[in-house]
Amino acid sequence: MTYPMSSNEAEYTDADFETVRRIAQDEAGIHLPESKKTLVYSRVSRRLRELGYTSFQAYLDFVRMPGARDEMEKLICALTTNVTHFFREKKHFEHLQTVVVPHLAAKVRAGGRARLWSAACSTGQEPWSMAMSVMTAFPDAPSHDVRILATDINSEVVARAASGTYPEAETEGIPQPCKAQYMVPDPFGDMCFSGPICQLPAFKVLNLNAAWPIKGTFSAIFCRNVVIYFDEATRERLWQRLAEKLEPGGFLYVGHSERVTFVDRCGLQQIAPTIYRKDH
Ligand SMILES: C[S@@+](CC[C@H](N)C(=O)[O-])C[C@H]1O[C@@H](n2cnc3c(N)ncnc32)[C@H](O)[C@@H]1O
Repeated sequence: MTYPMSSNEAEYTDADFETVRRIAQDEAGIHLPESKKTLVYSRVSRRLRELGYTSFQAYLDFVRMPGARDEMEKLICALTTNVTHFFREKKHFEHLQTVVVPHLAAKVRAGGRARLWSAACSTGQEPWSMAMSVMTAFPDAPSHDVRILATDINSEVVARAASGTYPEAETEGIPQPCKAQYMVPDPFGDMCFSGPICQLPAFKVLNLNAAWPIKGTFSAIFCRNVVIYFDEATRERLWQRLAEKLEPGGFLYVGHSERVTFVDRCGLQQIAPTIYRKDH
């Protein structure tokens, strides 16, 4: 079946949707159900227009050429859903601040290191919320070996996250004292993270379904609202790999509609509906 929606819209067939589906699965582990056919059209047709293609088939032939890796990345970016906000699922940040950080503070003051990971950070509201939770419980964290790794497959959102700059309206979820302490307005009226807090996060592009060039283990990993886009087998593999990246006693936080399967096999214990602790 073909879907030419109007005379100036690109030709889009069932076979094209199947091709996009295969690419999303193979490149990112993202599972696109039939119900996403129209969404895929609207997201990908923008790329076609920008490059001057009038059919999906021609664009998809191009994107799969060995020399078109940059465009393949742009296609993957177009297929990701990046909805997020500051202090989303507030209980996770309360737990981080009151349970995890005091323990980490004691550890790093004794000369140790502390690593946290926001594993699908989108535009950065999650890792910056983690950073504010760390600073609130441990204000001198930046002068110790404390870092928050923030990664996402989408290079465009990682760049926005790294800028630490947000329209005022998007900062509504940040408690006023935190906003006053860690952010300043920039000349364009946006709010920008500023001062020692900026030493905590490090932003990188990383595909959760490829190799992870990451040394060491983490005291806490936030992997939230991303496995909902993966199929069951991909999720199970990811839970196992994330559990291996946690230090004994470390915590894994997942999205409100997500659950870790085979917790025992992963060496995890569920301590709250969406919080897991690795066995000692
Ligand atoms: C809905 S956002 C979740 C953001 C944040 N974790 C939160 O809960 O608010 C999902 C993010 O997962 C990222 N993502 C999708 N597939 C990925 C993959 N294979 N590896 C890494 N990130 C991925 C998307 O780019 C998107 O930014």
